[in-house]
Amino acid sequence: FAEKYLHNQHWVITAGPTREAIDPVRYISNHSSGKMGYAIAHAALRAGAQVTLVSGPVNIAAPVGCRLIQVTSAEQMHQQVLANVKQATTFVACAAVADYRVANIADEKIKKDNEQMQISLIKNPDIVADVAKLANKPFTVGFAAETQNVEHYARGKLMRKNLDLIAANDVAIAGQGFNSDDNALTLYSTIDKIDIPLANKQIVAKQLVSLINQYYLAKNNK
Ligand code: C5P
Repeated sequence: FAEKYLHNQHWVITAGPTREAIDPVRYISNHSSGKMGYAIAHAALRAGAQVTLVSGPVNIAAPVGCRLIQVTSAEQMHQQVLANVKQATTFVACAAVADYRVANIADEKIKKDNEQMQISLIKNPDIVADVAKLANKPFTVGFAAETQNVEHYARGKLMRKNLDLIAANDVAIAGQGFNSDDNALTLYSTIDKIDIPLANKQIVAKQLVSLINQYYLAKNNK
């Protein structure tokens, strides 16, 4: 089956937002829908890969055939990814991980007794950077959602996080990226770049999965 070109690969994919608890009833999060990550999981499965999807809270069903690991916080996502990525050929970090978490989560609901309040935040672990530090690191792909200077910031993350590829999108353009059904990406390697034009996320994901595999094969001399 020529279309099952990923039959001997294991992909670990993160998707969706993370939620960082403030107290038992409140959290900090972001607008990630999980659609892009789930579309990548679907496309990789269709191409024959074994897929582990580590997902934050989303409202969409996991593609049939993947192993779904549901998490809430960035720390949980970090732990589950590192526990499952060792055997992976490919890691795709599509999740919109919260950059910070609450330093001291309140045990009880915080009351609105004061006119002002402060919440102290501490930095979350960088999941994709930690995967890229592994001695036997899988082929590692990150995402960069930017509102300006897209290429500059994307290439900076590619180098700083030691990634093999980074898929960048301009989230300031209406109708693509966060919460949208459509997306347009530019895929950067250390030496070149390829545009994936605006289309439904399922179509974009299919092209992205095929391109990731081509770079993976080139890196591994296959
Ligand atoms: O630095 P920035 O958050 O823009 O980088 C985005 C990329 O890094 C995405 O691939 C995202 O999934 C990943 N990331 C991560 N862990 C974090 C923050 C970002 O894996 N704590």
